[in-house]
Amino acid sequence: MDRPLILSPEEIYRRLCEQSYNYHSKYLAMYSSWFGGIVRDPSFMLMPIDDHMVHRGDGVFEVFKCVGGRLYLVNQHLDRLERSAAVAELKIPMSRQELLEVVKQTVLSAGEKDCLIRLFVSRGPGGFSARPSESIGSQVYIVVTTIPQHPKEHYAKGVKVKTSRIPMKPPFFASVKSCNYLPNVLMSKEAEEEGVEFTISVDERGNIGEGPTENIGIITTDYAFLVPRFNKVLRGITISRMMELAGELIKAKVLSHIGEADIPLEEAYRAQEVMMFGTTFDVLPVVMFNNKKIGNGQPGPFYKKFLKLLREDMSTDSEVTLKIYD
Ligand SMILES: Cc1ncc(COP(=O)(O)O)c(C=O)c1O
Repeated sequence: MDRPLILSPEEIYRRLCEQSYNYHSKYLAMYSSWFGGIVRDPSFMLMPIDDHMVHRGDGVFEVFKCVGGRLYLVNQHLDRLERSAAVAELKIPMSRQELLEVVKQTVLSAGEKDCLIRLFVSRGPGGFSARPSESIGSQVYIVVTTIPQHPKEHYAKGVKVKTSRIPMKPPFFASVKSCNYLPNVLMSKEAEEEGVEFTISVDERGNIGEGPTENIGIITTDYAFLVPRFNKVLRGITISRMMELAGELIKAKVLSHIGEADIPLEEAYRAQEVMMFGTTFDVLPVVMFNNKKIGNGQPGPFYKKFLKLLREDMSTDSEVTLKIYD
């Protein structure tokens, strides 16, 4: 066997500079508190291997977007980040104001008015055990990328879902957006293997939960917009905003009720409409659930109204958007 190659820092630098992958074109900028600044070359968007977020999943994160130069629902995302950090007993190493400022600077460095921001707060570097006390201090990493586009066909014709075989996270963990995403990863893998867009978790009593990284909601036969209880699934920012915006449809007497509920699988099958909600795609219509047609098997009128309400909401100057470009 050849002797293992020991690389000098200069050689590592040279090799990283030479790296070039197609997916790099989607990575626009990264802030690292460990580096103390912003990196624009994707080959240098790196983090220390002894950061406990790498080897123990000991970190929390948020994903939000910038639409037309406006950070959409950024305060709601930072509120959830703070709640997740509190459950993980993880100190965010900067004030809310400082964090927001670094987010803005990283997005401005990315140079795209439409982009996706992933914000991680990690336990930080220092040793390889599971003990957080080993770490020398929590870190912040922010990666700005282009927004992944869902195929247009999913919006126009709908998506298929199936129930998942992966056990649901216990409520304590389901409500935290931590970097422990193995169950979610296995659900995504399952969806690919099953030939559907998403699989949906189901609790021990047969009530629906959520997708790998998205919420689900239904329009019942009596015109209620129901979502699974947030004590069992992640309190999605998109679906929560949708519940607020849909208030307009209650006033117009188009919807009868909006709320959280236990939703048995059979109720989802019977629903007029089933929809998925998430930051990257907003809302998608579900037309098949476990090979059963939902409604008439076409995207329904509520889905179209919901998508319109959300898209208008994110492209208007308001208290839920933070304009960062002059
Ligand atoms: C497990 C899980 N559920 C739901 C969602 C949807 O949340 P949001 O609307 O905040 O993107 C996510 C988002 O990543 C998630 O990871």
